[in-house]
Amino acid sequence: MTEQQHRNKAGFETRAIHAGYEPDPMTGAVIPPIYATSTYKQDGVGGLRGGYEYSRSANPTRTALEGNIAALEEGERGFAFASGLAAEDTLIRATCGPGDHAVIPDDAYGGTHRLFDKVEKVWGLEYGTAPVSDVDAVRAAIRPGQTKLVWVETPTNPLLNIGDIEALAGVAHEAGALLVVDNTFASPYLQQPLVLGADVVVHSTTKYCGGHSDVVGGALVVRDHRLAEKLTFHQNAMGAVAGPFDSWLVLRGLKTLGLRMDRHCDNAERVVAFLSGHPSVSEVIYPGLPEHPGHDVAAKQMKRFGGMVSFRCAGGEEQALAVCDKAEVFTLGESLGGVESLIEHPGRMTHASVAGTDLEVPGDLIRLSVGIETADDLIADLDRALG
Ligand SMILES: Cc1ncc(COP(=O)(O)O)c(C=O)c1O
Repeated sequence: MTEQQHRNKAGFETRAIHAGYEPDPMTGAVIPPIYATSTYKQDGVGGLRGGYEYSRSANPTRTALEGNIAALEEGERGFAFASGLAAEDTLIRATCGPGDHAVIPDDAYGGTHRLFDKVEKVWGLEYGTAPVSDVDAVRAAIRPGQTKLVWVETPTNPLLNIGDIEALAGVAHEAGALLVVDNTFASPYLQQPLVLGADVVVHSTTKYCGGHSDVVGGALVVRDHRLAEKLTFHQNAMGAVAGPFDSWLVLRGLKTLGLRMDRHCDNAERVVAFLSGHPSVSEVIYPGLPEHPGHDVAAKQMKRFGGMVSFRCAGGEEQALAVCDKAEVFTLGESLGGVESLIEHPGRMTHASVAGTDLEVPGDLIRLSVGIETADDLIADLDRALG
């Protein structure tokens, strides 16, 4: 077993810190340098050093990130992209063609829905929607012979529905389709879909993987070599790759993912306990709550329940907008998964693109990305904003 393979079998935090990179043989640099280079000197025509030829095809900083995230997801190969949506588009066009069909969540992230509806559909890819929490509905949405992808988020954005990855893998595979799991909300620390039978993991590394709201990125991780070869081809042919600076930031973020996720979960649990007793809150949505319809499945497939919390305001949309305005420690903003707490109104912000479709979200809904600040300050802030 090589040292790298050995590290891949190590505990999560050890892999997070070491996998994908050996200290630089020339200098001993413990952290991968940012290889700000577009091209590489060749030792004679075709004499590539370490396979590096041109940085769209491969770049050593990106290679380190790709190896690291593959090890964290327990996959064979990782691929890093300029954004989560760039990763999604590359995956879709590597695995589908015009006339094919995909099933996506009926509460998919708005940008994912827009990609299928406004970009891939024009190219000839059809899609249908189904609730990820209903295995039979997903099965019914599959068109045998035509469906190539069953696309799942779990937990979903922003309604935090839970899909049973193992069961959905069975349903997809029965129909000869691939199961794709967008693991952005859980992160590889809390959930490893490939181990549960999924074929592809998608990440917006902008979120928990990067973890500091300072980079936009995406990733794919797969188990199968043939699929990896297709993605290698499409990543290079489509060119939406992560640059070396961005790769370096995501890699740095991944090193502390476990520590951060535990604190996100601790704080989210405190926030959920506070909101659950509040008279201005009509419903708290969090998979860690025993009454959440996906609680048992989440408990089975996730280590903990994550840092995302959604809730509905008893005072309707007007109150939800007022709470977003009044919060101070919770910064009003899109995105999620950074160290700082964020608050947003999905209906008017992240999910505005699905207004008027089947995927429209309730107007009284607020989504929180609970950060790693002092929990008492977060609760005092929500108390003030709800008051
Ligand atoms: C669940 C999920 N998937 C994918 C994406 C798209 O990622 P990016 O914004 O990095 O393109 C997002 C962005 O918010 C997301 O929340």
